[in-house]
Amino acid sequence: MALTSGKSNLFNKINASVRVIWQKTAFRPDIAIILGTGLGNLSKRVTKEIAIDYESIPHFPRSTVQSHAGKLLFGVLGAKKVVVMDGRFHYYEGYTLEQVTFPVRVLRKLGAKILVVSNAAGGLNLSYKKGEIVLIEDHINLMGVNPLVGPNDHRLGVRFPDMSEPYSKRLMEVAEEAARSKRVSLKRGTYLAITGPNLETRAEYRFMRQLGADLVGMSTVPEVIVGVHAGFEILGLSVVTDVCDPDHLEPVNIEEIIRTAAQAGPKLDQLVESFIHQLPHVS
Ligand code: HPA
Repeated sequence: MALTSGKSNLFNKINASVRVIWQKTAFRPDIAIILGTGLGNLSKRVTKEIAIDYESIPHFPRSTVQSHAGKLLFGVLGAKKVVVMDGRFHYYEGYTLEQVTFPVRVLRKLGAKILVVSNAAGGLNLSYKKGEIVLIEDHINLMGVNPLVGPNDHRLGVRFPDMSEPYSKRLMEVAEEAARSKRVSLKRGTYLAITGPNLETRAEYRFMRQLGADLVGMSTVPEVIVGVHAGFEILGLSVVTDVCDPDHLEPVNIEEIIRTAAQAGPKLDQLVESFIHQLPHVS
Protein backbone atom coordinates (compact mmCIF):
# COMPACT_ATOMS: atom_id res chain seq x y z
CA MET A 1 0.00 0.00 0.00
CA ALA A 2 2.78 2.40 0.85
CA LEU A 3 4.25 1.88 -2.61
CA THR A 4 0.98 2.68 -4.38
CA SER A 5 0.37 5.82 -2.38
CA GLY A 6 3.86 7.02 -3.38
CA LYS A 7 2.94 7.10 -7.06
CA SER A 8 -0.56 8.49 -6.63
CA ASN A 9 1.19 11.19 -4.69
CA LEU A 10 3.22 11.97 -7.81
CA PHE A 11 -0.02 12.38 -9.76
CA ASN A 12 -1.31 14.78 -7.13
CA LYS A 13 1.95 16.71 -7.03
CA ILE A 14 1.86 17.20 -10.82
CA ASN A 15 -1.69 18.51 -10.59
CA ALA A 16 -0.77 20.84 -7.75
CA SER A 17 2.10 22.30 -9.81
CA VAL A 18 -0.07 22.73 -12.87
CA ARG A 19 -2.81 24.41 -10.85
CA VAL A 20 -0.40 27.04 -9.54
CA ILE A 21 1.00 27.67 -13.03
CA TRP A 22 -2.52 28.02 -14.45
CA GLN A 23 -3.33 30.52 -11.72
CA LYS A 24 -0.47 32.64 -13.03
CA THR A 25 -1.09 32.35 -16.77
CA ALA A 26 -3.71 31.34 -19.32
CA PHE A 27 -0.94 30.66 -21.87
CA ARG A 28 -1.07 27.07 -23.17
CA PRO A 29 2.21 25.89 -24.76
CA ASP A 30 2.39 23.29 -27.54
CA ILE A 31 6.14 22.74 -27.41
CA ALA A 32 8.37 22.26 -24.35
CA ILE A 33 12.10 22.93 -24.49
CA ILE A 34 14.70 21.82 -21.95
CA LEU A 35 17.97 23.74 -22.17
CA GLY A 36 21.27 22.06 -21.42
CA THR A 37 24.43 23.27 -19.73
CA GLY A 38 25.62 26.59 -21.16
CA LEU A 39 22.72 26.72 -23.63
CA GLY A 40 20.40 29.06 -21.76
CA ASN A 41 20.48 31.87 -24.32
CA LEU A 42 17.66 30.45 -26.43
CA SER A 43 15.29 31.92 -23.87
CA LYS A 44 16.32 35.40 -25.10
CA ARG A 45 14.80 34.63 -28.50
CA VAL A 46 11.42 33.84 -26.98
CA THR A 47 8.84 36.61 -27.16
CA LYS A 48 8.07 36.35 -23.53
CA GLU A 49 4.60 36.06 -22.08
CA ILE A 50 5.54 35.20 -18.51
CA ALA A 51 8.47 33.73 -16.57
CA ILE A 52 7.73 31.66 -13.49
CA ASP A 53 10.51 30.91 -11.00
CA TYR A 54 10.82 27.26 -10.08
CA GLU A 55 10.73 28.38 -6.46
CA SER A 56 7.15 29.52 -6.80
CA ILE A 57 5.94 26.20 -8.24
CA PRO A 58 5.04 23.59 -5.62
CA HIS A 59 7.08 20.35 -5.76
CA PHE A 60 9.48 21.73 -8.38
CA PRO A 61 13.11 21.04 -7.48
CA ARG A 62 15.41 24.05 -7.09
CA SER A 63 18.41 24.69 -9.35
CA THR A 64 21.82 24.36 -7.72
CA VAL A 65 24.04 24.62 -10.81
CA GLN A 66 25.32 28.10 -11.62
CA SER A 67 25.05 27.66 -15.37
CA HIS A 68 21.32 26.92 -15.01
CA ALA A 69 18.83 29.68 -14.25
CA GLY A 70 15.75 28.10 -12.71
CA LYS A 71 12.61 29.37 -14.36
CA LEU A 72 9.85 28.33 -16.71
CA LEU A 73 9.54 30.75 -19.56
CA PHE A 74 6.30 30.92 -21.55
CA GLY A 75 6.13 32.68 -24.90
CA VAL A 76 6.35 32.49 -28.67
CA LEU A 77 9.30 31.11 -30.62
CA GLY A 78 9.27 30.34 -34.34
CA ALA A 79 5.58 31.32 -34.45
CA LYS A 80 4.61 28.56 -31.99
CA LYS A 81 3.65 28.61 -28.34
CA VAL A 82 6.51 27.28 -26.25
CA VAL A 83 7.52 26.77 -22.66
CA VAL A 84 11.24 26.78 -21.97
CA MET A 85 12.74 25.10 -18.96
CA ASP A 86 15.66 27.38 -18.24
CA GLY A 87 17.66 25.29 -15.82
CA ARG A 88 17.54 21.52 -15.57
CA PHE A 89 18.26 19.02 -12.84
CA HIS A 90 20.89 16.32 -12.84
CA TYR A 91 21.04 13.07 -10.92
CA TYR A 92 24.65 13.84 -9.91
CA GLU A 93 23.43 16.87 -7.96
CA GLY A 94 21.71 14.50 -5.57
CA TYR A 95 18.14 14.79 -6.85
CA THR A 96 16.15 11.61 -7.18
CA LEU A 97 15.15 10.68 -10.73
CA GLU A 98 11.56 11.47 -9.76
CA GLN A 99 12.71 15.02 -9.01
CA VAL A 100 14.87 15.21 -12.14
CA THR A 101 11.93 14.22 -14.34
CA PHE A 102 9.10 15.89 -12.43
CA PRO A 103 9.16 19.01 -14.65
CA VAL A 104 8.72 16.79 -17.74
CA ARG A 105 5.46 15.49 -16.24
CA VAL A 106 4.33 19.03 -15.53
CA LEU A 107 5.23 20.28 -19.03
CA ARG A 108 3.15 17.48 -20.54
CA LYS A 109 0.23 18.18 -18.24
CA LEU A 110 0.42 21.85 -19.26
CA GLY A 111 -0.53 20.66 -22.73
CA ALA A 112 2.80 20.50 -24.56
CA LYS A 113 3.00 17.62 -27.06
CA ILE A 114 6.50 18.04 -28.44
CA LEU A 115 9.60 18.01 -26.23
CA VAL A 116 12.93 19.42 -27.41
CA VAL A 117 15.89 18.49 -25.18
CA SER A 118 19.39 19.82 -25.54
CA ASN A 119 22.62 19.02 -23.75
CA ALA A 120 26.36 19.38 -23.74
CA ALA A 121 27.98 16.04 -24.48
CA GLY A 122 31.34 14.42 -25.00
CA GLY A 123 32.03 13.26 -28.56
CA LEU A 124 32.96 9.57 -28.67
CA ASN A 125 32.57 9.49 -32.42
CA LEU A 126 35.83 10.95 -33.68
CA SER A 127 34.20 12.36 -36.81
CA TYR A 128 32.55 14.94 -34.55
CA LYS A 129 34.24 18.27 -33.97
CA LYS A 130 34.17 20.36 -30.85
CA GLY A 131 31.22 22.74 -31.03
CA GLU A 132 29.32 20.66 -33.55
CA ILE A 133 25.61 19.91 -33.07
CA VAL A 134 24.43 16.30 -33.25
CA LEU A 135 20.90 14.98 -33.53
CA ILE A 136 20.29 12.27 -30.92
CA GLU A 137 18.71 9.39 -32.81
CA ASP A 138 18.83 6.83 -30.02
CA HIS A 139 20.22 6.37 -26.54
CA ILE A 140 21.81 3.87 -24.17
CA ASN A 141 20.89 4.15 -20.51
CA LEU A 142 24.01 3.29 -18.54
CA MET A 143 23.02 5.25 -15.48
CA GLY A 144 22.12 2.08 -13.62
CA VAL A 145 18.84 3.67 -12.56
CA ASN A 146 15.52 4.33 -14.25
CA PRO A 147 12.91 6.99 -13.41
CA LEU A 148 10.04 4.55 -13.99
CA VAL A 149 11.09 2.07 -11.30
CA GLY A 150 8.31 1.60 -8.78
CA PRO A 151 4.58 1.00 -9.05
CA ASN A 152 3.16 2.35 -12.30
CA ASP A 153 0.35 4.89 -12.19
CA HIS A 154 -1.51 4.20 -15.42
CA ARG A 155 -2.83 7.76 -15.40
CA LEU A 156 0.75 8.84 -16.13
CA GLY A 157 1.60 6.19 -18.73
CA VAL A 158 1.87 2.46 -19.39
CA ARG A 159 3.88 -0.02 -17.32
CA PHE A 160 6.21 -1.08 -20.13
CA PRO A 161 6.70 1.87 -22.46
CA ASP A 162 7.91 1.06 -25.95
CA MET A 163 11.39 2.38 -26.78
CA SER A 164 11.61 1.50 -30.46
CA GLU A 165 11.53 5.19 -31.39
CA PRO A 166 12.14 7.44 -28.38
CA TYR A 167 13.37 10.19 -30.69
CA SER A 168 10.77 10.95 -33.35
CA LYS A 169 11.83 10.21 -36.93
CA ARG A 170 9.40 12.86 -38.13
CA LEU A 171 10.99 15.50 -35.90
CA MET A 172 14.51 14.43 -36.91
CA GLU A 173 13.61 15.00 -40.55
CA VAL A 174 12.21 18.45 -39.80
CA ALA A 175 15.39 19.28 -37.83
CA GLU A 176 17.58 18.12 -40.71
CA GLU A 177 15.60 20.29 -43.10
CA ALA A 178 16.02 23.24 -40.71
CA ALA A 179 19.78 22.54 -40.48
CA ARG A 180 20.05 22.54 -44.28
CA SER A 181 18.20 25.83 -44.55
CA LYS A 182 20.45 27.39 -41.90
CA ARG A 183 23.58 25.74 -43.36
CA VAL A 184 24.36 24.17 -39.99
CA SER A 185 26.06 20.77 -39.94
CA LEU A 186 23.86 18.21 -38.18
CA LYS A 187 25.12 14.65 -37.83
CA ARG A 188 23.21 11.88 -36.07
CA GLY A 189 24.33 9.83 -33.12
CA THR A 190 23.54 7.57 -30.17
CA TYR A 191 23.77 9.25 -26.76
CA LEU A 192 24.97 7.24 -23.81
CA ALA A 193 24.02 8.45 -20.33
CA ILE A 194 26.07 7.93 -17.19
CA THR A 195 25.43 9.49 -13.80
CA GLY A 196 28.66 11.49 -13.53
CA PRO A 197 29.82 13.70 -11.94
CA ASN A 198 33.32 12.60 -12.85
CA LEU A 199 34.33 12.52 -16.47
CA GLU A 200 35.25 9.15 -17.90
CA THR A 201 38.46 7.16 -17.88
CA ARG A 202 40.11 6.20 -21.14
CA ALA A 203 38.99 2.60 -20.57
CA GLU A 204 35.40 3.78 -20.12
CA TYR A 205 35.52 5.80 -23.34
CA ARG A 206 36.83 2.71 -25.17
CA PHE A 207 34.06 0.61 -23.67
CA MET A 208 31.38 3.15 -24.64
CA ARG A 209 32.62 3.36 -28.20
CA GLN A 210 32.52 -0.42 -28.45
CA LEU A 211 28.92 -0.31 -27.25
CA GLY A 212 28.05 1.82 -30.26
CA ALA A 213 27.72 5.17 -28.53
CA ASP A 214 28.63 8.41 -30.32
CA LEU A 215 27.98 10.84 -27.49
CA VAL A 216 28.25 10.66 -23.71
CA GLY A 217 26.65 12.84 -21.09
CA MET A 218 25.06 13.09 -17.67
CA SER A 219 21.50 14.13 -18.51
CA THR A 220 18.66 13.79 -21.02
CA VAL A 221 17.97 10.04 -20.85
CA PRO A 222 15.84 10.18 -17.65
CA GLU A 223 13.81 13.06 -19.13
CA VAL A 224 13.40 11.22 -22.42
CA ILE A 225 12.28 7.99 -20.71
CA VAL A 226 9.65 9.91 -18.75
CA GLY A 227 8.83 11.94 -21.86
CA VAL A 228 8.06 8.74 -23.77
CA HIS A 229 6.06 7.39 -20.82
CA ALA A 230 4.07 10.64 -20.72
CA GLY A 231 3.39 10.60 -24.48
CA PHE A 232 5.72 13.32 -25.74
CA GLU A 233 7.06 13.36 -29.30
CA ILE A 234 10.76 14.08 -28.73
CA LEU A 235 13.68 15.78 -30.44
CA GLY A 236 17.14 15.57 -28.84
CA LEU A 237 20.17 17.71 -29.70
CA SER A 238 23.70 17.56 -28.31
CA VAL A 239 26.48 20.08 -28.55
CA VAL A 240 29.84 18.32 -28.65
CA THR A 241 31.93 20.08 -26.01
CA ASP A 242 34.97 17.81 -25.89
CA VAL A 243 36.48 15.06 -27.96
CA CYS A 244 36.71 11.74 -26.09
CA ASP A 245 39.60 10.08 -27.88
CA PRO A 246 40.97 7.47 -25.48
CA ASP A 247 44.32 7.36 -27.26
CA HIS A 248 44.88 11.12 -27.14
CA LEU A 249 42.90 12.12 -24.11
CA GLU A 250 43.51 15.56 -22.71
CA PRO A 251 42.25 16.66 -19.31
CA VAL A 252 39.00 18.60 -19.65
CA ASN A 253 37.67 21.13 -17.25
CA ILE A 254 34.05 22.00 -16.77
CA GLU A 255 34.63 25.72 -17.46
CA GLU A 256 35.93 24.82 -20.88
CA ILE A 257 32.94 22.53 -21.51
CA ILE A 258 30.54 25.33 -20.56
CA ARG A 259 32.49 27.81 -22.71
CA THR A 260 32.38 25.50 -25.73
CA ALA A 261 28.64 24.95 -25.25
CA ALA A 262 28.08 28.70 -24.95
CA GLN A 263 30.10 29.35 -28.13
CA ALA A 264 27.95 26.85 -30.03
CA GLY A 265 24.82 28.28 -28.40
CA PRO A 266 23.82 30.79 -31.11
CA LYS A 267 24.04 28.06 -33.78
CA LEU A 268 21.87 25.74 -31.70
CA ASP A 269 19.41 28.56 -30.94
CA GLN A 270 19.04 29.33 -34.66
CA LEU A 271 18.55 25.68 -35.43
CA VAL A 272 15.91 25.15 -32.74
CA GLU A 273 14.03 28.29 -33.77
CA SER A 274 14.11 27.29 -37.42
CA PHE A 275 13.05 23.74 -36.51
CA ILE A 276 10.04 25.07 -34.62
CA HIS A 277 9.21 27.42 -37.46
CA GLN A 278 9.24 24.59 -39.98
CA LEU A 279 7.12 22.29 -37.84
CA PRO A 280 3.62 21.90 -39.18
CA HIS A 281 0.93 23.33 -36.93
CA VAL A 282 0.92 21.55 -33.57
CA SER A 283 -2.56 20.69 -32.40
N1 HPA B 1 31.50 12.98 -20.49
C1 HPA B 1 30.36 13.10 -19.81
N2 HPA B 1 29.62 14.16 -19.86
C2 HPA B 1 30.01 15.17 -20.62
C3 HPA B 1 31.18 15.11 -21.34
C4 HPA B 1 31.97 13.96 -21.27
O1 HPA B 1 33.04 13.84 -21.88
N3 HPA B 1 31.29 16.28 -22.00
C5 HPA B 1 30.22 17.01 -21.69
N4 HPA B 1 29.42 16.34 -20.85
